[in-house]
Amino acid sequence: MSEAVKYSVRDGVAVIEMNNPPVNGLGSVLRPGIMDGLNKAAADPAVKALVIMGTLKAFSGGADIREFNTPKSTMSPTLHEIIVVQDGFPKPIVAAIGGFALGGGLELALACHYRVAAPKTQLGLPEVKLGLLPGAGGTQRLPRVVGATEALKMMTTGNAVSAEKGKELGLIEEVVQGDLLEGAIAFAKKLVAEGKGPRRVRDLTVKVDGDPQAFFAAARADLEKSARGFPAPLQILGCVEAAATLPFDEGRAEERRRFQILVEGSESKALRHMFFAERQTTKIPDVPEDTPVRKLDKAAMIGAGTMGGGITMSFVNAGIPVTLVDTSQESLDKGLATIRKNYSNTVSKGRLKQEDMDKRMAMITPSLDLNAVKDADIVIEAVFEKMDIKQELFGKLDAIAKPGAILATNTSTLDINVIAAATKRPGDVIGLHFFSPANVMRLLEVVRGAKTAKDVLATAMALGKKLKKVPVVSGVCDGFIGNRMMEKYGIQAWYLLDEGATPQQIDAAMKKFGLAMGPFTMYDMAGLDVGFYVRKRRVAERPDYAYSRIVDRVCEAGRFGQKTGKGWYRYEAGDRTPRPDPEFDKILADYRKEIGVTPRQISDEEIVERLIYAMVNEAAKILEEGIALRASDIDTVYMTGYGFPHYRGGPMFYADTVGLPKVLAAVEKFHQGYQGGQWKPAPLLVKLAKEGKGFNG
Ligand code: 3HC
Repeated sequence: MSEAVKYSVRDGVAVIEMNNPPVNGLGSVLRPGIMDGLNKAAADPAVKALVIMGTLKAFSGGADIREFNTPKSTMSPTLHEIIVVQDGFPKPIVAAIGGFALGGGLELALACHYRVAAPKTQLGLPEVKLGLLPGAGGTQRLPRVVGATEALKMMTTGNAVSAEKGKELGLIEEVVQGDLLEGAIAFAKKLVAEGKGPRRVRDLTVKVDGDPQAFFAAARADLEKSARGFPAPLQILGCVEAAATLPFDEGRAEERRRFQILVEGSESKALRHMFFAERQTTKIPDVPEDTPVRKLDKAAMIGAGTMGGGITMSFVNAGIPVTLVDTSQESLDKGLATIRKNYSNTVSKGRLKQEDMDKRMAMITPSLDLNAVKDADIVIEAVFEKMDIKQELFGKLDAIAKPGAILATNTSTLDINVIAAATKRPGDVIGLHFFSPANVMRLLEVVRGAKTAKDVLATAMALGKKLKKVPVVSGVCDGFIGNRMMEKYGIQAWYLLDEGATPQQIDAAMKKFGLAMGPFTMYDMAGLDVGFYVRKRRVAERPDYAYSRIVDRVCEAGRFGQKTGKGWYRYEAGDRTPRPDPEFDKILADYRKEIGVTPRQISDEEIVERLIYAMVNEAAKILEEGIALRASDIDTVYMTGYGFPHYRGGPMFYADTVGLPKVLAAVEKFHQGYQGGQWKPAPLLVKLAKEGKGFNG
């Protein structure tokens, strides 16, 4: 028996205890031990019943996702083989569930004959979140236990239920208040004493609300609307329908067939990549996981604008009080009013209690005095994006903030090393690049300056998690990871206009690719003014900085996006629908004449390649320069901060899926084309393509 599984017999009850950190994944390490335990318990006449338990933290987090699409996942005994033995087991089996039973973990428990759980346990089949369906009998057993309606809800949302709810649904027999193992053994002994034997879930029938045909037709129509192109929810529905209408073994065969389609599909591969990518970001090679972190009990926010307000909300939502500083009473009042309005909206939607809103508002202390930051453990600034302003502020903060306080800037483009140099404590300075709206967006780029101390970085990463963000480390460069790539994307979008495309065509092609919106709708929403200002600075700093001046022509015409009623499109009062605008068409036509370009037909395929590969080529440079620690961090940035379609797994994963030789061939072709200077192939892309490798290994 493997060390991960302990077998013992207590008073006629055999106990199989699984202990395979971190989550008792049912991989090749655990499965042989479980099978051995089952065989021993079956063969021992002194054993009258069996308890299967995990640790108190985790019954099991399900199949080991790392082993999918590898030979280990099919290595005998498979989970299916174990479950077949459980089904035929001659003595009652009790699952003793602590922590969570998720995915294959709950499927293992459902193949037990009875289930008891500790009070705080979570029970769920979250496979859909990985683009999969429960593939070890879950789609057949769960509906037999909780009915088709509830089973569909649990499996298509992937959301877990509590032990209490599980009891209400009949998913567990008993919530054990005291020691879980003792409770489970007592439960098993009682079964034996009462002469209750095995009770197989597979022998139950599925309860369907109303006429099955109508029920499944209605559920299918609903899911077709909500699944947004993801295949798993509809495949789950197909399995539940099979559970309700076919004998168990046929339903089970249907489940396996559909699982196989999903596990081989690119959507699930992308979602699994994302699952691990998000969990990788906090692993920093030269900053050990046990690096001590600084205490962060009090925060101060400088700047009560949109960004400062959103960041303040993130902190108080996480229970950290904030002193909110601005230079004028008017700005402070306006900032606080916006925060209050945001919370009120959440309260009116029933997602926050009024008393909790009041508590959060009470955690914000407005101040006009910069000295008010002196007690803060962390000070974050979101003032105007101009180097001299930031440097002056950091000089002042250096004099005011207490020793050991972290001084963070929310800059999105400026050099953090230069900002840090304005202080005598550059080790305490770090970039915390939040994305707007900061209280909603999950991405947090944590920008590590040349002198940022390791414990400051570790603290910032822990803070990101506490704020319920996904923190990703970036080195210092213009735009960091996300915006540096986005700039290349924008530059191609503008060049495509020069050459003959329209904003509508480009936006439509990118939406079809899966982005939440195309570049021109996005720019109009975000406003074109900041970019206009940043470009002026870039041109002054780097005279060779190349881009299509069409974007400047639009700004020079006072078209700064939705806020001015026109940008790349025009907008009607109180309506955010982008509408084509003949005034813009004229600006574009004039510009094409000015630069002497005769417009040509451009395919949607070329649009997608130009925009996405421009980002990928830049990302390869970002990776090679060490600005990003790993390709999956870049993917995480794009999935959590830029609306990249989840089923594509991020730009690097997407490039790997296309194949780097193909990506390189396109980059080389564009290098020969219009404004080809933009397309110098990144050496890392060339190298990996030649070696037949991918960015993500
Ligand atoms: N397989 C492999 N590794 C897993 C895993 C799994 N099913 N679940 C979690 N892990 C790993 C994580 O990658 C992480 O590894 P790391 O420490 O090296 O980064 C570690 O376990 C801890 O994970 P979290 O940081 O997420 O820990 P939390 O305590 O916050 O959450 C959890 C625990 C709720 C179990 C969460 O990890 C989770 O939701 N896991 C996925 C559960 C899931 O989707 N199960 C279904 C799997 S598919 C399946 O079972 C198919 C079956 O139907 C045949």
